[in-house]
Amino acid sequence: MDKIVIQGGRPLRGSVAISGAKNAVLPVLAATLLTHGKNRITHAPEVRDVDTMLDLIGDLGGVLDSRVKGDIVLDTANIKKAEARYDLVATMRASCLVLGPLMARLGEARVSLPGGCAIGARPIDLHIKGLEAMGAVIELKEGYIHGRAKKLKGAHFCFDTVSVTGTQNLMMAATLAEGETVLENAAREPEVSFLAEVLKRSGADIEGAGTDTIVIRGVSEIRPLDCRIFADRIETATYLIAGAITGGEVEVRDCIPAHVEPVILKLREAGVTVQENGEVLYVKANGGIKAVNIRTQPHPGFPTDVQAQFMALMAIAQGQSVIMETVFENRFMHAAELKRLGSEILIEGHTAVVSGVPYLSGAPVMATDLRASASLVLAGLAARGETLVSRVYHIDRGYVSMEKKLSNLGASIRRVK
Ligand code: EPZ
Repeated sequence: MDKIVIQGGRPLRGSVAISGAKNAVLPVLAATLLTHGKNRITHAPEVRDVDTMLDLIGDLGGVLDSRVKGDIVLDTANIKKAEARYDLVATMRASCLVLGPLMARLGEARVSLPGGCAIGARPIDLHIKGLEAMGAVIELKEGYIHGRAKKLKGAHFCFDTVSVTGTQNLMMAATLAEGETVLENAAREPEVSFLAEVLKRSGADIEGAGTDTIVIRGVSEIRPLDCRIFADRIETATYLIAGAITGGEVEVRDCIPAHVEPVILKLREAGVTVQENGEVLYVKANGGIKAVNIRTQPHPGFPTDVQAQFMALMAIAQGQSVIMETVFENRFMHAAELKRLGSEILIEGHTAVVSGVPYLSGAPVMATDLRASASLVLAGLAARGETLVSRVYHIDRGYVSMEKKLSNLGASIRRVK
């Protein structure tokens, strides 16, 4: 298994380009199952999760006409199989996003129940309840969800908790359902609005995406998708923090500042300079970092996917920071590893109290999930001495060439087999 070796303590300087958003392209790829033709998707990130989703859609009958770097042509004229295999779903829980489109297109779906993962149980009970509200009959057997519906019908459904992929799954199912569907307490993440825009461009009738109430009027069919994936806001936040934690000066380009507003505001509160200029963010930190408190929330609150990275920054801040993780039940796995680098963190349920220390010291650490891995890399960039991050396959799921982008910013970082 690959490891990443970092010699820390070097301020990052220079410019980094942000890639397409993993969490935007995965639902769009699933949405191609709603269409019968050649879907064109450009600027997709070249990450492992995209490979997995393409394998899954190929397994269902989709044909990958071409894939040149991030530009994909996916022909979904002949989707005949309705089963998402366990091994594919087990590697990536976002595979559950094929549930809604398969139910809408074929009137049936057999999708393996996604296993939990490091950050929590990750149930999809709300996805299932929503489809049942639309007339689907769903059974759970042998670890698979078996869904059946002659024709999905529009329904009025309210989410008990805000769910990003739950909102996306039901929005896609409702696109071809009979009648009107209203989704209450819907997720407002930019990736939900992006999916709605892509579907509308292909003929779907959707209103209210980006707010907590989305209205979808079913249509008989939609045209093949044609879109360019927008910038990854979590990658953007990760590189802003990389500039801050190393006391450097970094230009983050090809990004969407509006999507990372909560993170920008918290960085400024911590004494970091962040300037916006169109699709470029400029981050500079040389006057020390002040401890600030964060509380993760669904968008437009502070994103849970940036919590681990921000904790690494607070580990070397002046003062005490209180970090509350309100979205997932077990998303502090990185804290134990950050402690190995010398940070002082007290975990109490959903709350972490971080007492900043003057500096971190390099050590071998282990990645547990995608964003925890990023947090450990950031801490290694700031730590004195050598940090060895193992299980970096987590990073490859959601970050494009992280060590290359960081070494272009002056980091001493390399991947070893
Ligand atoms: C999406 O996951 C993202 N993944 C996650 O990013 C992100 O952390 C999460 O949204 C929250 O923003 C993709 O978009 C592919 P949820 P998702 O359903 O949709 C509970 C990353 O690092 N819940 O919004 O699976 C759930 O347990 C990944 O890129 C139910 O109880 O998250 C959680 O506590 C990690 N029942 C909360 O809701 C359900 O049916 C939010 O989960 C669904 C969710």
